[in-house]
Amino acid sequence: MMILGIETSCDETAAAVVFRGKTILSNIVWSQVATHHPYGGVVPELASREHIEKIVPVVEEALAYGKVDSNSLDGVAVTCGPGLVGALLVGVSFAKAYAYAQGLPLTGVNHLYGHVAAVYLEPHPPPFPFVALLASGGHTSLYYVKGPTDFIQLGQTRDDAAGEAFDKVAKLLGLGYPGGQVIDQLSKEGNPERIRFPRALLDRTGFDFSFSGIKTAVSRYVHREPEARSTRINDIAAGFQEAVVDVLVQKAVLAVKTKGCGHLAVVGGVASNTRLRTRIKEEAAGNGITVHIPRPELCTDNAAMIAAIGYHYLSQGKKSCLDLDVYSKIRKP
Ligand code: KG4
Ligand code: ZN
Repeated sequence: MMILGIETSCDETAAAVVFRGKTILSNIVWSQVATHHPYGGVVPELASREHIEKIVPVVEEALAYGKVDSNSLDGVAVTCGPGLVGALLVGVSFAKAYAYAQGLPLTGVNHLYGHVAAVYLEPHPPPFPFVALLASGGHTSLYYVKGPTDFIQLGQTRDDAAGEAFDKVAKLLGLGYPGGQVIDQLSKEGNPERIRFPRALLDRTGFDFSFSGIKTAVSRYVHREPEARSTRINDIAAGFQEAVVDVLVQKAVLAVKTKGCGHLAVVGGVASNTRLRTRIKEEAAGNGITVHIPRPELCTDNAAMIAAIGYHYLSQGKKSCLDLDVYSKIRKP
């Protein structure tokens, strides 16, 4: 089964062709970072407009790169939420029209489950059941994954997402948008022990997260010591990153131990963080847990992961009608 995946939930216009939910024939991502960079965050109206301009060329490129004729497609999978409503509408409207015109089945998928499905695209995916830590710009959650489309949420952030904290801290340090990668780089030159920021909810047994306190602590620190922004920026970045990574690692390992499944997937944009990748592998190895992290280009937003989960829905006969709607907040498809 050959699936065309389409993703427009935030600031990436993406299309991909995936064979049998596993083999990536093409994975095209048009990033809007340059458009939103001057504003220090995503401007929803600009995102929608750019998706409209790019959706057709990006899909054409995905088909051409994969050497796939539209007649050889077996279905279309599209992100219908959660995300920016105006942005989602572009992908969903395109997908409906394309599926209708080509006589293909359509399935609307949850972006967060799509992130988890990125591990299905790796050569050695985790066996079911496994625990998935999703850390992205919009969400931070832990799932118990019982089957390809069977997700039980164990916990989620009560306020900011982990990636959002990276972006907000980068903004207040004057490092621009998006912040994850630049903080990751600066931290390599910093000492993570020199400035200690708080680790929220680590004393609790539950699986919820909270990251707004860390961001506030960094903000207070730079107000108290304004010169630190030029003299100790690497240490601030490393101290902040360490606090976020500590919480993510400890909660994820606790979840796997509690469920006793022995396998952990780490997905979403923040999963491309080099410190998180190293720390979680170390911690997991010490606890007999196998960690699965998709390659970095499958961690950040892409359409291959959408095609991967869409393949499983369509194989199960779960099709969407042409009245498929978009949604901004977390909801099951
Ligand atoms: O999954 P994603 O591409 O989009 C959402 O669904 O939100 O995640 C984007 C987020 C941004 O907040 C970005 O700062 C963060 O992932 N990110 C990183 C790194 N690369 C991207 N955070 C920490 N370290 C990185 N290397
Ligand atoms: Zn995402």
